[in-house]
Amino acid sequence: MPKKCIEDVDVKGKKVLLRVDFNVPLDEGRVRDDARIRAVLPTITCLLERGASLVLASHLGRPRGKAVPELMMDPVAERLGELLGKPVKKLDQVVGPEVAKAVEKMKDGDILLLENLRFDKREEGNDREFARQLAAPVDIFVNDAFGTAHRAHASTAGVAEFVPAVAGLLMKKEIEALSHCLENPRRPMTAILGGAKVSDKINVMRRFLQLADQLLIGGGMANTFLAARGVSLGESFYEQDLLETASSIMNESEQSGCRLVLPVDLVVTRKLEPDSDSKVMEPQDIDGDWKAVDIGPETVKTFSRYISRSAMIVWNGPLGVFEVPPFDQGTRLVAGEMAKSEAYSVVGGGDLVAALESLGLTGQVGFISTGGGATLEFWEGKELPGIKVLQDK
Ligand code: 3PG
Repeated sequence: MPKKCIEDVDVKGKKVLLRVDFNVPLDEGRVRDDARIRAVLPTITCLLERGASLVLASHLGRPRGKAVPELMMDPVAERLGELLGKPVKKLDQVVGPEVAKAVEKMKDGDILLLENLRFDKREEGNDREFARQLAAPVDIFVNDAFGTAHRAHASTAGVAEFVPAVAGLLMKKEIEALSHCLENPRRPMTAILGGAKVSDKINVMRRFLQLADQLLIGGGMANTFLAARGVSLGESFYEQDLLETASSIMNESEQSGCRLVLPVDLVVTRKLEPDSDSKVMEPQDIDGDWKAVDIGPETVKTFSRYISRSAMIVWNGPLGVFEVPPFDQGTRLVAGEMAKSEAYSVVGGGDLVAALESLGLTGQVGFISTGGGATLEFWEGKELPGIKVLQDK
């Protein structure tokens, strides 16, 4: 990796500001999914074993510069403590004299967690003075928050102006695994993209058209492509203003030699509610107040055939309205096929990871990225601000 990592620097006796992405789902004041916390444990353990003391910092949700009680970091500190087997002290501030005093008192091997960075609006504004205050009590900045590396915020980018900045082990692993797909595609390579909107994924789609042998499209974004082909789709969601873009992406696919595969059947419902009435229809037959909410069984078969013949698979985004069962079924079935296949697979995005976890299949996937938007932007080929600021080797 071209960037310096914690393995390249001496941290003994140093106070380390460790930016992590603990933006985890909560349920009644408890962490519902701790995957992002577990992903950082190797970095935490490595730094502590090598004699550092750690000031952990993360955002949680989108409080937009205000203190929101439900988004305080206490449940995260509690879960982290359980995982580490020792309590993690949480401070109620992000910067200021109390933080300075607490950090000053820390001994090697100590660990504490700051309050939600986004309670202060200067975080997202990448305010220089706020970044300076974050850096003031520490000797070194370690960025392990790959999931937030696409944000140019004070704690991901600004802080690097004031203290040496290096990558953590998760950041290193993410960069290596995601670059691997771009730099060494194994053929045949299948890219799968889902999610509601084409608008979020135009650039990554174009990148995959140059890279992959086929691009399978599901989720709401498939509707926009079908609509661009003149299919009416009843009341299904699609992006009217992106029909031209969808048509030009379909043309580009013909020129690039990457096959663009759209659903041949869809699960439709009238009400987007758990266990509401649904049926399977071919896209051109959807009419009235029916709307598409998942890929249908023939599409699952088609996608599975491509998967079984692939040597590499990259996937971001669910293929249906994953959060409303049973419209998570298409995503689950295709995820199961991917886990069974021999292909090296790399996936990103919370819904997909949740599908794999609930099927007990995470161990059968080559690499699971902790990023959502960050993974997409990395695959687009953008230089992410939280990586750019790290010291070169
Ligand atoms: C994520 O969950 O994708 C990251 O934590 C970034 O969160 P954000 O989209 O609110 O910046």
